Amino acid sequence: VIGIPIDEDGLDVGALEQVLARHEVKLCALQTACQNPTGQDLAPERRERLGELAVERNFFVLEDGVYSDMRFAGESPRPLRELAPGHVVYTGSLSKTVGGGLRLGWAAARGPIFERLATLKLETDFHTNTLSQHMAARFLASGGYERQLRKSIPFYRERRDALMDSLERHLAGEYRAQRPNGGHHVWVTLDRPLNERDLYTEALRHGVSFTPGGVVSVERPAQSHLRLSFSLVDPPELDEGVKRLARAIREVRRRDRHAARMPVS
Ligand SMILES: Cc1ncc(COP(=O)(O)O)c(C=O)c1O
Repeated sequence: VIGIPIDEDGLDVGALEQVLARHEVKLCALQTACQNPTGQDLAPERRERLGELAVERNFFVLEDGVYSDMRFAGESPRPLRELAPGHVVYTGSLSKTVGGGLRLGWAAARGPIFERLATLKLETDFHTNTLSQHMAARFLASGGYERQLRKSIPFYRERRDALMDSLERHLAGEYRAQRPNGGHHVWVTLDRPLNERDLYTEALRHGVSFTPGGVVSVERPAQSHLRLSFSLVDPPELDEGVKRLARAIREVRRRDRHAARMPVS
């Protein structure tokens, strides 16, 4: 697996081109909308170029749209699959919008890869529960999905905004974070790096948890990142969580300063 950097415009397709020049790439997996962990979208010109590259260089793209309907801001971009239908496998899921416990998702693909995927799925788990699939199909056909989104989007948007406000309240001047267009997470970069593992342990001691950036990166990141999830936590708890996280950051920095002053024996 080769990591491709991402920025506020999504996957860096120029960096992907450099990888394509050196490696035989079989599959490029990405989320084009409301990406986990950054919550950002792939910019239209990058989308077009990626579609062209997939066709020219003949590799598959796995376009994971799992968060694409959990959108708080911005227009839904056209799926990449529209640009290169024979080269893109699109996947979606009810996990992030309706309920993770349903364990239901779908894939859209064209050509021999579709049959191959269906066979692989059968070999892997002997089918997903048929009753829950029928229930989900009725739910989707009845307009229930759209009604659910109309309720859940403002619910999660409030939590996103609360988390962004709490970060400003307790960590101002110490971090960078773009307001996510959608999804369940805020991707935080600390201005001054520290050891993510030490911070994780210290944060747990303060009763708060997060996903260290290294866990969701293919290569070891040069900076310190934290993925903070707001979906399960109400605004007062989010504020308390960020307050505790800020305390944990200060404690790790204090220890680092102390260690730097200790004589080397
Ligand atoms: C980016 C992304 N894709 C796919 C999934 C998996 O979704 P499902 O619960 O439908 O397996 C997740 C869940 O965490 C996710 O974050």
